[in-house]
Amino acid sequence: MPFLKIVNCMDPILRKKCLKVDNIDETLAQLADNMIDTMYAASGLGLAANQVGVSSDLFVIDVGVQKEKREPVIIINPVITASDELVMAEEGCLSIPDLFAEVNRSHHVEVKGYDLKGNELRYEAEGFLARAFQHEMDHLKGILFWDNLSKVKRSIMQRKFKKKLKEVIA
Ligand code: NI
Repeated sequence: MPFLKIVNCMDPILRKKCLKVDNIDETLAQLADNMIDTMYAASGLGLAANQVGVSSDLFVIDVGVQKEKREPVIIINPVITASDELVMAEEGCLSIPDLFAEVNRSHHVEVKGYDLKGNELRYEAEGFLARAFQHEMDHLKGILFWDNLSKVKRSIMQRKFKKKLKEVIA
């Protein structure tokens, strides 16, 4: 099970809207499997395909997170079919390592998509898991969590990120 390289927020692929998946084949199934392994290896709870350099409309997520057991699912061509009031809470992103910020997200969402067999999937989530769904689906639209912050807060975070990057390279 090869681990995939997670791109960081400087990579332009994270700014592009992912293309709808119209053909589920062995390559896609392999990608999804590797994304699950990569997500857990990076101690993440969700991972979008563009974060591993593939601009396709799918993500993986651990829906067992609130039950304290691993329950990874793959969701292809996801859409949010219902949402409710916004709540603020802290979140982070594997493509923006070690930086966290409070972001507004719907407390409750309903998500529809497809599994690797092309069967329709529906999930209902609230709280932390609902937040994770919205975060991953934003990735697929080319949106990063700091886009939801004020301009000032975002540029402070961006500066912090660039500073860290320099420290790593130095
Ligand atoms: Ni992320």
